Amino acid sequence: MSDRKLIVGNWKMNGRKSDALALVGDLLKRIQAKAPRCDLMVCPPAIHIDAVAGLVAHTSLAVGGQDCHQAASGAHTGDIAAPMLWDLGCRAVILGHSERRANHGESSALVRAKAVTARAVGLLTIIAIGETLAQRDAGHTIDVVSSQLRESVPEDSDTDNTVIAYEPVWAIGTGRTASVEQVAEVHKAIHAEMKVLMGPKKAAGLRVLYGGSVTPANAQSLLALDTVGGALVGGASLKADQFWAIAEACP
Ligand code: PGA
Repeated sequence: MSDRKLIVGNWKMNGRKSDALALVGDLLKRIQAKAPRCDLMVCPPAIHIDAVAGLVAHTSLAVGGQDCHQAASGAHTGDIAAPMLWDLGCRAVILGHSERRANHGESSALVRAKAVTARAVGLLTIIAIGETLAQRDAGHTIDVVSSQLRESVPEDSDTDNTVIAYEPVWAIGTGRTASVEQVAEVHKAIHAEMKVLMGPKKAAGLRVLYGGSVTPANAQSLLALDTVGGALVGGASLKADQFWAIAEACP
């Protein structure tokens, strides 16, 4: 576990292979010119991971997957297994992103099963949680994220195998970022819940990211919060200058 903030680029289903290589090439040039103060990771579409991993080998830029199956292998057409991600050079995987939960009906129990499998091969699991606008408006935000944590995070969690990403669904891809006060309130509750789930010793130093319309303009104030261990960046991670500016905003 590191004290440094972690900035993760979630490319989602964007870009051709040439775009992926150009983006990573640009990021590597910036990293070589100036070592970032944070840990940096990109999560390309699965089909581009091999090409990207080839470029970032022996650099400080890490590669992660955007999802994996809960089984380590088997008859699951179109799915990606955790050991395959590991073999290509991934050292982390995002699990339970709200787009997976919404578009693929993923439950917290399924996210938990995926996390168990991913950790068995050594992957860091970045477990995403967050409330919808309706849940926030009904005053249920803390209850929703707390129960997502209880149901999605496996028992053997520690800071080496777990990162939590708080991503309010209403802030993802909408240009509507949660306010610093909203993030501070929810991150405090997440740390408290994780302390109960992991035990205070193991939970010390747990990285809890914020995600949802993070840009160079709002990154500094969000990353200045002690409870915010980094950012999960979607749209702005597709532009090297923007992603780099967010990395540079780390204290
Ligand atoms: P966004 O996506 O930065 O485009 O809002 C964040 C995410 O979904 O991880």
